[in-house]
Amino acid sequence: MPGWTFDDEKLLRRMFSADDPTFELAEARTHELMELMVFYKCAMMEIETKFNVLNAEYSLMHDRNPIQSIKTRLKSPRSIRDKLIRRNLPVSIDSIEQNLTDIAGVRVICSFPEDVYALIRALLRQDDITLIDMKDYIANPKPNGYRSLHIIVEIPIFLEHGKKRIKVEIQLRTIAMDFWATLEHQLRYKKEFEFTEEMMQELKECADISAKLDLRMEAIRKAVLPAKIDYSALQDEMF
Ligand code: GTP
Ligand code: MG
Repeated sequence: MPGWTFDDEKLLRRMFSADDPTFELAEARTHELMELMVFYKCAMMEIETKFNVLNAEYSLMHDRNPIQSIKTRLKSPRSIRDKLIRRNLPVSIDSIEQNLTDIAGVRVICSFPEDVYALIRALLRQDDITLIDMKDYIANPKPNGYRSLHIIVEIPIFLEHGKKRIKVEIQLRTIAMDFWATLEHQLRYKKEFEFTEEMMQELKECADISAKLDLRMEAIRKAVLPAKIDYSALQDEMF
């Protein structure tokens, strides 16, 4: 499968043969998992396409792009296994489907905060999409200053015989929110470094400054390109 290495496949074989010595069974489970990963990849592609379609339609209607870029990622077998073990969950295909909601991830980087809400509302209105969970870290930022709108949706994938519902995690944020989150992530992953209280305060302040920047840019946008639809009404309706 694209994006998968031979090493990934070897790891999968080990993951799924640990509790069973029969090679055939391990082989069958590996195949089943590879199949499941293809479904996740398809679901991710469907969601990406839906956002591309919304972006195209919106650009036509409003003379600007609400989406700056879209990134997709499929969780690697190693991260899947590590997360299951970390959470004391069984390492099995059923367990992946039941317990992990972020195997397929789509990150949508928007121009302005209001685009985040306009896009998500348009997506959730589509009748093949089921909302599973929503965390609004824009309205309620994390204590460290992190902002983004996270939603988990389910989307049907059509197979030769029947269909299967697949979960996808979508993160929507503005360029400013992404700027902060990307750099904070880089800094945080320097694990050997211990952050002081002052440094965390500084990071939080940077997040708050970028949130203010977003609002100021949005105010300019409103003056330059008046919205043709009432976003505040859309937001009120949604939450
Ligand atoms: P996970 O087990 O990490 O999935 O936690 P969770 O299910 O509680 O999800 P959460 O809402 O915390 O979001 C998880 C994802 O959001 C992460 O994988 C990151 O991509 C992003 N994220 C959440 N918090 C932060 C943060 O403080 N900084 C950065 N840079 N990214 C974050
Ligand atoms: Mg998660």
